[in-house]
Amino acid sequence: MTYLLALDQGTSSSRSIVFDEQGRSVAQAQLELTQIYPRPGWVEHDPLEIWRTQLATARAALHQAGIAASAVRAVGITNQRETTVLWNRKTGQPVHHAIVWQDRRSEPACAQLRAQGHGAAIQARTGLLIDAYFSGSKLQWLLDHVPGARAQAERGELAFGTVDSWLMWNLTHGQLHATDVSNAARSMLFDVHENRWDDALLALLRIPRSLLPEVLPSSAHFGDTAPDLLGHGIRIGGVAGDQQSALFGQACFGAGMTKNTYGTGCFMLMHLGARFQTSQNGLLTTSAAQIAPTPVAGAGPTAPERAYALEGSVFVAGAVVQWLRDGLRAIAHSGEVEALARSVPDAGGVLLVPAFTGLGAPYWKPDARGTITGLTRGSTLAHIARAALESIAYQSAALLQAMGRDAAAAGAAPVHELRVDGGACANDLLMQFQADLLGIPVLRPAVIETTALGAAYLAGLSSGVYRSTHEIAQLWRAERRFEPSLDSARAQELMANWERAVRQTTA
Ligand code: G3P
Repeated sequence: MTYLLALDQGTSSSRSIVFDEQGRSVAQAQLELTQIYPRPGWVEHDPLEIWRTQLATARAALHQAGIAASAVRAVGITNQRETTVLWNRKTGQPVHHAIVWQDRRSEPACAQLRAQGHGAAIQARTGLLIDAYFSGSKLQWLLDHVPGARAQAERGELAFGTVDSWLMWNLTHGQLHATDVSNAARSMLFDVHENRWDDALLALLRIPRSLLPEVLPSSAHFGDTAPDLLGHGIRIGGVAGDQQSALFGQACFGAGMTKNTYGTGCFMLMHLGARFQTSQNGLLTTSAAQIAPTPVAGAGPTAPERAYALEGSVFVAGAVVQWLRDGLRAIAHSGEVEALARSVPDAGGVLLVPAFTGLGAPYWKPDARGTITGLTRGSTLAHIARAALESIAYQSAALLQAMGRDAAAAGAAPVHELRVDGGACANDLLMQFQADLLGIPVLRPAVIETTALGAAYLAGLSSGVYRSTHEIAQLWRAERRFEPSLDSARAQELMANWERAVRQTTA
């Protein structure tokens, strides 16, 4: 039997999963990660804790699977994206905590870039809208605020990386300083057309080039883990940011194929194929996982097949259930929400817009705040719970509609199904309502660990476990298919009511 080991370093935990070659999870281990909030709007992680927990879960998963590291053909890494680590090349010690993707401290620098009119050029080159979300301005902040960091960086003594790079550095005892295109694409420093760091953007953000990792395709031989760490040197064969990895794990390989991950927030990605397209509807364009072509004798080096995706995110999705639990005390455990919501036939006209931290794509209303509309004397907590669940589907539907408008503008076919994953996709009521609103089937796969699975597949592809993405697509199975059961006029009316409620969110 051949095995693949996926390291899935997420925002709230480090996880490792051993998969067999059929893509079935054989063993897994998980450790929580400490969240550090030094000031309002700031979020940090301890990079040493990231590494320690990731290594511990990798060892635990191998142990649980009862296999030797030598039985693992390759390791795949997937990671929380944009989170920025800066460390000393000689000592391997971070010079500061990691600045997490949610952290807003670099917003003033971004506001300045916007005011200087760099928005259109940056979007054309990187696919991104100028925002503190991305790693570039976080790195700039570190260089400007950690005493001595800029001088050290200019002397070539420091290394920058997102979590994938940081893990690879440690997995190889500092031999490898690399990243993949899907992570590099989240920096606002990377030309996604040419697949290279962009000198003009580096100059604009004052980032010394010596800090940067080498960028490889997502499925490639990055290096090998140091033998002492896992008991055997294992090939690192795949790396991708977690959302692009989930897209890959969902076998969304062609233009128009779309996945939505329902976590604390939602991340929806629609594959664009090899065609880069700037969104006219407030979405980001990002590099999808890209594959190094199989070398052909005598043909010389070939560039990886380009692959792009449109991306939109919902800031508050599963988090609205936490709010029902901790804020309203409507339920004792998150798992109770479905029963409470099902205790009423519908939301009774109640709409809840959970704009607790503003609204993201496609609305971009950073100052919006949450709103409940349509309350009557007959409204109960159950109606509010149902409206809270439905808000996750409404926000996702608005994203998919925006993607549909971009696809139509490019003459592409409309999305015909949505593949789902993430914790909240287990909620049948939510998935059915999602299908009803969208008017297309919602497909829940048999393996919902698609983020880790994507990394395993990427590693398996570059190490010969799989010959092609076609072979991987054959492994994808739906566990359940939710067919739309609402007529389209009613679905449109519901969406129109939702949009009206969104307009009522005020700062
Ligand atoms: O862009 C941020 C995203 O990659 C974080 O994902 O699953 O760690 O919350 P997650």
